[in-house]
Amino acid sequence: GQVFLNLVVNAAQAIREGDAEHNEIRIDTRLDGARAVIEISDTGAGIPPEIVGRIFDAFFTTKAIGVGTGLGLAICHRIVTDMAGELTVRSELGKGTTFSVALPVAETDHPGVAARLLPTAPVVDARIGRILVVDDETLVGTSVKRILKSHDVHVLSNAKEALARCVAGEAYDLILCDLMMPDMTGMELHRELMRVGPRMAGRMIFMTGGAFTPEAREFLITRDHIEKPFNSADLRRLVQRHLTGG
Ligand SMILES: Nc1ncnc2c1ncn2[C@@H]1O[C@H](COP(=O)(O)OP(=O)(O)OP(=O)(O)O)[C@@H](O)[C@H]1O
Ligand SMILES: [Mg+2]
Repeated sequence: GQVFLNLVVNAAQAIREGDAEHNEIRIDTRLDGARAVIEISDTGAGIPPEIVGRIFDAFFTTKAIGVGTGLGLAICHRIVTDMAGELTVRSELGKGTTFSVALPVAETDHPGVAARLLPTAPVVDARIGRILVVDDETLVGTSVKRILKSHDVHVLSNAKEALARCVAGEAYDLILCDLMMPDMTGMELHRELMRVGPRMAGRMIFMTGGAFTPEAREFLITRDHIEKPFNSADLRRLVQRHLTGG
């Protein structure tokens, strides 16, 4: 990342202000055999041939004091070389400059080498579940829904309605349920679900907010729960573990 930032800043600094139509900084990527090549091109001033051999030297700069320290390209060169890559330059005075970063593609016996160069997709949860979230604090419901956005998440703010849905035959892979709610608590919902359909009751995970009654503490000993506030990674891991039956 630092390498590309340096190169793009250099490119921008090589272009004089004005003439916006003609000015351009391009970034191209391609696969060249076992190497990924990323090129940053600009339509700036170009580099005079007599100094092009020195631009990768530390502290070599043509910029005013305070503008450049001359370390940018030296650092880029070092980083790319450390990764077994190559940083090269082509430049034409008055026309522009192209810096080319060639990096070895990770060795793999996988046929989809090109796919590995694509920007990595957001982490996809292994299994998508239909999940019911029950919490009287609507903020909890909306944030859980956002964290678990790759799932089919339904949010309710009271346990009675959740019970009604289950009684009506709605099925969920998982019920994330607050423990302490005014109308009907998570424990009461659990008890009712045991009567109408133990399968649903067994799919409950309780979200707890700290202070428990002794009854609640005992209830939780044998049941899966997550303490609020939780971080998104922990929640997603817990959900995934349940969905895959672990
Ligand atoms: N895209 C470019 N077009 C024209 N000249 C360039 C370009 N990139 C680098 N140069 C020349 O190479 C010199 C060295 O670049 P380098 O990034 O190492 O240092 P700098 O940009 O001067 O300072 P720093 O990056 O430390 O702020 C620059 O001063 C400039 O003369
Ligand atoms: Mg620089």
